[in-house]
Amino acid sequence: MTTKRSSRTSVKSASGLHPHVLVVHGPNLNLLGNREPGHYGLDTLDDINRALVSRGESVGAQIETFQHNHEGALIDRVHQAARDHVDFIVINPAGYTHTSVALRDALAASAIPFVEIHLSNIYARESFRHHSYFSDLAVGVVSGLGAHGYELALEYALRHLQNRTPHGSQKTEKAH
Ligand code: DQA
Repeated sequence: MTTKRSSRTSVKSASGLHPHVLVVHGPNLNLLGNREPGHYGLDTLDDINRALVSRGESVGAQIETFQHNHEGALIDRVHQAARDHVDFIVINPAGYTHTSVALRDALAASAIPFVEIHLSNIYARESFRHHSYFSDLAVGVVSGLGAHGYELALEYALRHLQNRTPHGSQKTEKAH
């Protein structure tokens, strides 16, 4: 069965801009909490998403979360993000990290800056996990810091977006 979880919140930001961040979770991450806790910890996906949405609310950012087990659905969601003018993506491609040229191409086509995140340290695991189809396109990669890594990735995104001018360019750093 396909499991899809989605949540959305929007609050007004002091600056008048509404940072819009999409958090994408790939296959099997709906099982977090039960799935190989030695690698992925005990936090559920709902725990992770709730913390991210709550952090977004505290700074007036809109955080959407999306999980799917199917490659095509993840690709479609990235296409939708481009149509919605999402500002930033935080993505854990999960198993597709190591296999999916198609999801990589969707992110490249979207031109939305993104951080790649992994709960486990993929470089300390099997060699087939050492290659990612996403890392060279990503603004950065967080790997091995568990659920906390999502919070760090979101903090980066929020800071990156805070530096935007109302016209969408960056005041102090290069726009991606
Ligand atoms: C993962 C690492 C991947 O190798 C694995 O296939 C996953 C989760 C992580 O979060 O550590 O499903 O992306």
